[in-house]
Amino acid sequence: MITIKSEREIELMRESGALVAKALDLLEKEIKPGMTTRQLDTMAEEFIRDNHAVPSFLNYAPKGDPGVKPYPATLCVSINEEVVHGVPSKSRIVREGDIVSVDCGVYKNGYHGDAARTFVLGTIPEQVQQLVDVTRECLERGIAMAVEGNRLHDISSAIEDYARSFGFSVIENMVGHGIGSELHEDPAVPNYGRKHTGVNLREGMTLAIEPMIALGRSRKAVSRRGEWVAVTEDKKPSAHFEHTIVVRAGKAEVLTRTFLDVIQS
Ligand code: MF3
Ligand code: CO
Repeated sequence: MITIKSEREIELMRESGALVAKALDLLEKEIKPGMTTRQLDTMAEEFIRDNHAVPSFLNYAPKGDPGVKPYPATLCVSINEEVVHGVPSKSRIVREGDIVSVDCGVYKNGYHGDAARTFVLGTIPEQVQQLVDVTRECLERGIAMAVEGNRLHDISSAIEDYARSFGFSVIENMVGHGIGSELHEDPAVPNYGRKHTGVNLREGMTLAIEPMIALGRSRKAVSRRGEWVAVTEDKKPSAHFEHTIVVRAGKAEVLTRTFLDVIQS
């Protein structure tokens, strides 16, 4: 069931969203080659708790999947061929030349915010830089379609078309989602699809739009049994950007935007 949020609820979601965005700004400023992904995780968790909020992902257990352990961290930190759900570890070091996708969720006052960015460490091949830039732009093009009167897959097709126009591959088995009092609500928001199809978008729907785009041909992110991290099948790099948005008439409202994020998009 898709819920329409009241302005009162959206006000609370603005607060959760703003905290996610500030946490990502902090990580973007602090991330340096040689750091462990655990250090990033600790930094984010402290920031969130200092702001009287709770990490959304910590202890998250996917419904109806007893095979996988509850998520053990605040962030997902996914490096290079890792698409999503990289679990922070004190033995995993980020290096010069890596692309590092950091996904963060915050729960405050009964509502979640969820956002992700892919950070570039030092110099990377031109094609990988293009992957990162195109994935960021895929998200912007998806958001631009998230207005009342459009259909859900107008978002999806805008993302897919832009990614494919560069020959990049859309990861199809991981999707965006509705968000609110639950981290994952209806509807699923795929990053591919046919325009003018899917549910009608209505003002007050809150969505986490999150393109995951890869170099190479992999259209799937795969995990070993019982493991969280999901990687491309051909081990080519993958990028990920995510915002929590409110569908509005005319122009979507982005709840997880900051200045740092604006100047790059
Ligand atoms: N942004 C991701 C998602 O919406 C992160 C979820 S991590 C999990 O699916 F641990 F909570 F699953
Ligand atoms: Co999400």
